[in-house]
Amino acid sequence: MSEWTAVQGLTIAIDGPSGSGKGTVAKILADEIGLPVLDTGLLYRLTGSVALDHGAALDNEQAVVGVVDSLLGSIIWTVEGIRLNGADVTATLRSEAVGAAASKVAAMPAVREKLLGLQHQLAENGCIMDGRDIGTVVLPDAPAKFFLTASVRERARRRWTQLKDESGSSLDDVIAELKMRDQRDRERQHAPLKQASDAIAIDSTTLRVEEVVDRMLGVLERRKLIQATNP
Ligand code: DC
Repeated sequence: MSEWTAVQGLTIAIDGPSGSGKGTVAKILADEIGLPVLDTGLLYRLTGSVALDHGAALDNEQAVVGVVDSLLGSIIWTVEGIRLNGADVTATLRSEAVGAAASKVAAMPAVREKLLGLQHQLAENGCIMDGRDIGTVVLPDAPAKFFLTASVRERARRRWTQLKDESGSSLDDVIAELKMRDQRDRERQHAPLKQASDAIAIDSTTLRVEEVVDRMLGVLERRKLIQATNP
């Protein structure tokens, strides 16, 4: 049983750059307050991955939109991850190559537009959503928004520690790739990564995950969006 109970239909937006810890923090917070958590990056990752598999040029918006159209009827996106034609493909989407492809397709307005409906549908009954544009575009009316940051070096270190065994990349490779992805996500025209004006920024560079979650719980409690289950 969760330690906290969230008000009916509560939506929480968590945005931030790659490696800022959004996913980890969102999962722990979700457990604490009994809400489902949805990782919107998986939608862009799946699109990028299938586009790569189909040989679609990642600068051809029309071709990538075709990929999204072909996907929409075949995916099941839940708190567990994402299924394509019944198979759980979540783990295959975590590679750097797929991340880079995702960042390219995510810059396409028509692709974002197509994926927006799906995100709205799933948020309807309350959830925590993590991504880049949740507080600004997907859930602009969410009563709690957080923007998680950390230094590039620290974010790269976290990513590198995760990848070390599977990829031959050096820490410097990961830093360079992360900087490129940050730039693409921040400078794109449509729904760029940016802090919503009413979001609370948390710099996690020197914080433990539990400290970040505690700060979030504090905000939610002060706003009366959660209350202790057994006070
Ligand atoms: O969070 P992630 O690394 O899984 O995201 C993969 C890519 O998708 C990343 O480059 C940014 C993009 N993305 C986005 O543009 N909007 C979102 N809401 C989520 C992810």
